[in-house]
Amino acid sequence: MLGNFSYMNATKLYFGEDSLQYLKEELSKYGKTVQLIYGGGSIKKNGIYDAVTEILKACGKTIVEDAGVMPNPTVEKLREGVKIARDSKADLLLAVGGGSCCDYAKAVSVSVHSSEDPWEKYFIRFEEPDCQIVPVGCILTMAGTGSEMNGGSVITNHEAKLKIGHVFGENVMPKFSILNPKFTYSLPKKQMVAGIYDIFNHICEQYFSGEDDNTSDYLAEGLMKSVVHSSLIALDNPEDYEARSNIMWTATWALNTLIAKGKGTDWMVHMLGQAVGAYTDATHGMTLAAVSLPYYRHIMPFGLAKFKRFACEVWGVKAEGKSDEAVAQEGLAAMEAWMKKLGLAMRTSELGAAEEMLEGMADATFILKGGYKVLERAEVVKILREAL
Ligand code: NZQ
Ligand code: ZN
Repeated sequence: MLGNFSYMNATKLYFGEDSLQYLKEELSKYGKTVQLIYGGGSIKKNGIYDAVTEILKACGKTIVEDAGVMPNPTVEKLREGVKIARDSKADLLLAVGGGSCCDYAKAVSVSVHSSEDPWEKYFIRFEEPDCQIVPVGCILTMAGTGSEMNGGSVITNHEAKLKIGHVFGENVMPKFSILNPKFTYSLPKKQMVAGIYDIFNHICEQYFSGEDDNTSDYLAEGLMKSVVHSSLIALDNPEDYEARSNIMWTATWALNTLIAKGKGTDWMVHMLGQAVGAYTDATHGMTLAAVSLPYYRHIMPFGLAKFKRFACEVWGVKAEGKSDEAVAQEGLAAMEAWMKKLGLAMRTSELGAAEEMLEGMADATFILKGGYKVLERAEVVKILREAL
C-alpha cells in the first residue's frame, strides 16, 4: 500500500547534447554577479569552462571564480565559498561539475545570509534554513549523485571525522540543471563506474524496504535494469551516446525522490559508505561498492521476499526448483559479478581503510530504521570488518 505523500520537483532540467544553449535563457532570470563554482580543473581540460564563460560574458555577467571544490567537499571549503559569495554579493551560484560542486553550491546557498555556523546548523542540528537563499544552477559533468535534481548536500568534516548529508527542501534545489551526456565522456573510467554504482545503489536503498506491491518498486526495477544494461555498453565504449545518456537520465531519476514516494527506504549502505569516506576520503561510489555485499548478505534473511524478487526481476534468476534463499543468493552473486566486471572496489582496504579504524567508523555510522533489519552497533562492526 502506498502511504500518503506530496510530490513536487522544483528543478527545471535541460537534457541533451544541445542543452547548454538554454543557459542564456536561465541567466536572464538572475542578477549580474555569477559565482562560478568548479572543481580541480577537469572543466578547463575538456573545454566546458570556455563554453560556459563565453555564454556568461555574452550575457554581460560578472564572473566570480570559486574553483577547487574537492571531491567530498569540506567544511573549510564551504566557509571559503560563503565568504566569496558574501564579498561579491553573488546573485547566482553556478556549479559546473559533479555532485561535489552541486552539493557544495547548495550548502553555500543556505549559509551566505545566515549568521550561524553552517556545519553546526545544517549538518549537526539538521535545521532548515531560515534566511534568504541564494539561487543555485547546475551544469552537470558527472552522472551519479542525482544532486542536479534534489536537495541533498553532503559535507565532510575531517577534523570531526564525519561526512554528513542534509536533504534540504524545494527552495534549495537547483533552479535549473543542464545535462549534456557528452560532458561526461572525459570522465576517467574509475569515476564513471563509481558514478554508475552510486546510481544503482541509490535505487537499492529505496527498493530494499517494505514488502508491499508498490509502483515505486516497479519503477526501481526498470531503472536498475537500464543502468546495468547501459553500464556494460559504456564500459566497452565510453562514447556511446545512447548508453551515456541513459546513465545520466537514470542517475537523475534514481534520486529525485520519486521512487521513494509512499514507501519506506533503507539508506544504510550510504551510512556505512559515508563513515568509510570520513576516514579515507575515498570516492563516494567506491565506498558504497565496498560495503554493499557484506551489508546485503547480512540483511537478506530479514527481507528474503524482496531479495528473491530482486534476483528474478533485475538479474533474471530462474526460481523454479530452488529455495527462496538460493534464489536470493544467486541474485546477489549476479550483482557481485557485474560489480567486478565494472572494476569497482570490492573491499574498503583497497580504499585505505584499516582494522584500527573499525571502531571509529562504526561510531561515525548513523543507524537508520527503514531497512529490513535495524542494526545493532556490533552488527555494524561485523559488516565493516567483513568489508575490509
Ligand atoms: O574536480 P574536477 O577536476 O572537476 O574532477 C572531478 C573529480 O575529481 C572529476 N570529474 C567530474 N566530471 C568530470 C571529471 N573529470 C573529467 N571529466 C568530467 N566530465 O570526477 C571527480 C569526482 O567528482 P565529484 O563531483 O566528487 O563526484 P560525484 O558526482 O560522485 O559527487 C560526489 C559527492 O556527492 C555526494 C558524495 O557523498 C560526494 O561528496 N553525494 C551527494 C548526493 C546528493 N546530493 O543527493 C547523494 C550521493 O549519495 C552522494 O552522497
Ligand atoms: Zn550516493
